[in-house]
Amino acid sequence: MNDFLLMGDLAPSQTAELLQLAHTIKQRPAAWSQALAGKSIALLFEKPSLRTRASFAAGINRLGGHSIYLDAANLMGVREPAKDVGANLALWHDAIVARVFSQETLTELAAASPKPVINALSDIDHPCQAMADLLTLQEQLGDLSQAHLTWVGDGNNVCHSLMLGAAQMGMGMQVVTPAGYEPAASVLAQTQQIAAQTGAVITVTHDLTALQQTDAIYTDTWFSMGQERDNNQVMHDFAPYQVNCELMKRLHAKFFMHCLPAYRGREVTTEVLDGPQSLILQQAENRMHAQNAILVKLLQGASHE
Ligand code: CP
Ligand code: NVA
Repeated sequence: MNDFLLMGDLAPSQTAELLQLAHTIKQRPAAWSQALAGKSIALLFEKPSLRTRASFAAGINRLGGHSIYLDAANLMGVREPAKDVGANLALWHDAIVARVFSQETLTELAAASPKPVINALSDIDHPCQAMADLLTLQEQLGDLSQAHLTWVGDGNNVCHSLMLGAAQMGMGMQVVTPAGYEPAASVLAQTQQIAAQTGAVITVTHDLTALQQTDAIYTDTWFSMGQERDNNQVMHDFAPYQVNCELMKRLHAKFFMHCLPAYRGREVTTEVLDGPQSLILQQAENRMHAQNAILVKLLQGASHE
């Protein structure tokens, strides 16, 4: 593993190993407190972030490393090309974590940087989120090949990463979106290719009445960062796809999931988001543990047990 740019770049065995490492680091953090000793990581964000930024900074600190934050003033392709940013940051830093408008920017950064680059969200993928979510589902349900997830709403970056992650782990998943908001055809094709190897059954539909019973329902904002969408049209198209108590009950869902930030009363009701079935804080906490496993793996940091 040289970089972590796309969820689909991981082999199923690598996803499983990373999750195992994340569990281990979470359970015995002291053993990893020097894993990144003497290392410095650049956190470069073209878009706002609470969880990703704060969890990377805290996680790197807990692994004995150091991080710096570079904000949107460094928008790549505007102040300078991504390739110059990547080549320069790699002179002083051991890895680059980047949140970008375009996946292409990550490709350019990684091509120019001899040090690992980690995707902290792009237009098409949010792999660190998916790793944290799979970790959360494992904690709640155990063997993911026996688990089932339902995605309701926009077929966006988070949906893409979860589809690929579900396929890698042999987990069942149904995706329901309004017409015109499906996941990308290329991601679905890659998902089905992986699923054919692992036995995962993954379906995509627009039909809310076609949904089967599930373990967890996941949704995300209807307006992702950087998207230009007609507000009224989106509110109209997504209205039937709100996650509420009725849908939770109808699908016998044990859990509700959301990557956050959430918009109460839009994609999810307050009752569900803040209710007892909601895993949102466990997901957020697990961002740090999942990312620490990714950092350790990429930087080959050793445990000091
Ligand atoms: N879920 C997530 O990535 O949150 P932030 O946008 O706050 O980083
Ligand atoms: N789909 C959302 C996720 C935010 C963490 C976005 O891209 O804005």
